[in-house]
Amino acid sequence: MRSNDTEFATLRWVGDVDGYLDLLDQTLLPTEAKYVACRDTATLFEAIRSLRVRGAPAIGVAAAYGVCLGVQGAVDLNEADFFARLDETCRYLATSRPTAVNLFWALDRMRQSAELQRGLVPHELLQSMLLDEARRIHEEDAAMCRAIGAHGAALLNDGDGVLTHCNAGALATSEYGTALALLYAAQEQGKHLRVFVDETRPLLQGARLTAWELQRRGFDVTLICDNMAAQVMREGRVQAVVVGADRIAANGDTANKIGTYGVAVLAAAHDVPFYVAAPSSTFDLTLVDGCGIPIEERDPREVTHGFGRQTAPVGVKVYNPAFDVTPARLIRGIVCERGVISPVTGENIRRRIS
Ligand code: MRU
Repeated sequence: MRSNDTEFATLRWVGDVDGYLDLLDQTLLPTEAKYVACRDTATLFEAIRSLRVRGAPAIGVAAAYGVCLGVQGAVDLNEADFFARLDETCRYLATSRPTAVNLFWALDRMRQSAELQRGLVPHELLQSMLLDEARRIHEEDAAMCRAIGAHGAALLNDGDGVLTHCNAGALATSEYGTALALLYAAQEQGKHLRVFVDETRPLLQGARLTAWELQRRGFDVTLICDNMAAQVMREGRVQAVVVGADRIAANGDTANKIGTYGVAVLAAAHDVPFYVAAPSSTFDLTLVDGCGIPIEERDPREVTHGFGRQTAPVGVKVYNPAFDVTPARLIRGIVCERGVISPVTGENIRRRIS
């Protein structure tokens, strides 16, 4: 985790073209901070699918480096076979998780950067050009997060109670985060916030990751179970909700961690502003609205056997969507690196993003 804290980078490429990707294994947090070395695409694929690395922007950056792993050793191939390997790597990594569009955005960008050079430079050079491109994606993500914080901090006032869901912080990005960037930037401006963190069933990204990350940064953090948010709002403890996003459609409908939609409904019922924070790489303007966003369904055991202990009867039917879609009308503003989009309309999004 970077941002004032260089001890824990969410992910880092080690070495040169023949190097590897080190990921902070988020399945072990908050009790252990260990890195997992991904030296091939199969290891990275497993790390993405099992949420060792997670959060839309971090998945995109990891996939970009994954392309570099996929073409290692491919310089011995002829140009056509090199591009076939590149294509096969991208198609493979694209099947790791379906909802966060940053994954597909990063893979497309890697593929296009190589295609632009096809026939112009010896394909032996493409390996290092691809690593340069992955590093650029990594650095740009960090810069976008800083800009999101700078634009969004004004939405939070000194003394506010802020509720967040899942983890959209440094752990979910190159550094600094998206939703949490607003909190970090507000803190850097001297504002004191009280942060309510939804635990975020079933995988507890709020409890395990957001509470850990915010505590380390000296925030006043209160962890609540997801089903406590209504009561906390009714008691007047929350003045703003800020969440991240996995994919935003052209009309502003936003997919984020399961439970986000419910929080948005609660926020509307209590007249609390609900904000989304995300970089432009999270927008999918090919989708007219949220109906087209693919929603990942995960293993029922995440619900029946949370963290190893059976908590439901054997054979019970389970539905486990990992994301939901919040309609644009419930979102007061979307903070991206280019500013705050408000009101959230298709036209305002097009003006900022395309
Ligand atoms: O399943 P996860 O942990 O990858 O889900 C993450 C989220 O839903 C985040 O809120 C989202 O990716 C934004 S991260 C800046």
